[in-house]
Amino acid sequence: MLSVRALNTEYQTPKGPPVKAAQDVSFEVPKGKFFTLLGPSGCGKTTTLRSIAGLEKPTSGEIEANGRIVYSSPKNLFVPPNKRNFGMVFQSYAIWPHMTVFSNAAFPLEVRKDKPSRQAIRDKVMQVLSAVQLDHLAEREATRLSGGQQQRLALARALVMEPEILLLDEPLSNLDAKLREAMRFELKRIQRENGLTTIYVTHDQGEALALSHEIAVMSEGRIVQIGAPRDIYNHPRTKFVADFIGTTNFIDGNVKGFDDKAGRYRIDTAVGDMLVQADARFENGAPVSISIRPEDIELSERDLQADGGSNIYRGMIDTTVFLGDFVDVQVKVGNAMLQARSHPSLGAGEDDAITLRINPDKCVAIADESRGRRAA
Ligand SMILES: Nc1ncnc2c1ncn2[C@@H]1O[C@H](COP(=O)(O)OP(=O)(O)OP(=O)(O)O)[C@@H](O)[C@H]1O
Ligand SMILES: [Mg+2]
Repeated sequence: MLSVRALNTEYQTPKGPPVKAAQDVSFEVPKGKFFTLLGPSGCGKTTTLRSIAGLEKPTSGEIEANGRIVYSSPKNLFVPPNKRNFGMVFQSYAIWPHMTVFSNAAFPLEVRKDKPSRQAIRDKVMQVLSAVQLDHLAEREATRLSGGQQQRLALARALVMEPEILLLDEPLSNLDAKLREAMRFELKRIQRENGLTTIYVTHDQGEALALSHEIAVMSEGRIVQIGAPRDIYNHPRTKFVADFIGTTNFIDGNVKGFDDKAGRYRIDTAVGDMLVQADARFENGAPVSISIRPEDIELSERDLQADGGSNIYRGMIDTTVFLGDFVDVQVKVGNAMLQARSHPSLGAGEDDAITLRINPDKCVAIADESRGRRAA
């Protein structure tokens, strides 16, 4: 298990105040789990990862790995990186040229003070090379590998030390889209088969959703939400998280009332009344933003209003974009433009009238501090 508690890391600058790159960062990763730090460029992901590795010295906080404290400001304790036994793969991994695949993977063992025997090194290296499926290329020069193979070699080199914890900083970022997707599955397999506690850094939300047991979304040095991928996707707590994790529609409104029985809020919006769910508690009149995923807007050429039910609106198709497996449809509802994702069998096209139905469970109300309160 890895536990990071109230971690703060700053960078000194020649002029001006220090950069507060990681602020009050706290999270726990159970043994064998895949944990992702996700956020836009500059939000502090690498800083947090390097602080865990011991490559940056935090200003305060505590880091504990499998019951051993490796950094603590109150205890004035700092274990140097080479004594932490964490494996790390950087965004720009370095493969040593003029060396075979085997020697690249063996290198961390060769330079160890308590260097294992030749046979022990051979066994261990071949074991990690087969874990990343490079054993058949052991004797090849490392530079004569594809991008994805080099990536796997970098991973093998991190695994050869049998790290307690694996730290990965955007390890797939310099691969092309297709290879990146294939490596995602590989990475997940290696992680699972070896029961590796993994901290993964990425700014790619699709990657985070696909790989992680849990995701921490970061913004401006702070973690703004932690949860399982589905939880973060379906219950974003802020506009930032909703917007960052995939495409979403935002509809502004004000709370009109709360239905105790259904546990739903009624919101007054520009497209009409909307029943929604919320994790937070709102008073009447409170300004909210409703987040709705495109795939949760059902489009029908039939007039669904006749069936009764809530959250049914009439609109007009503005544009459609055919994407193979689905169609992205921009629908004008009153003054609002909503994006829906529909099945390619949708017959209606541009300028056709259409009915929208949105399941209230899929409408998430989020506090919107940017607008003022309004009397209900
Ligand atoms: N050595 C440094 N000296 C001063 N400021 C730094 C240093 N390294 C990073 N920073 C600043 O700290 C903040 C966090 O940087 P960090 O590298 O952790 O971001 P990141 O989330 O990994 O971004 P990216 O996705 O671009 O890699 C940024 O504002 C960055 O400019
Ligand atoms: Mg980074």
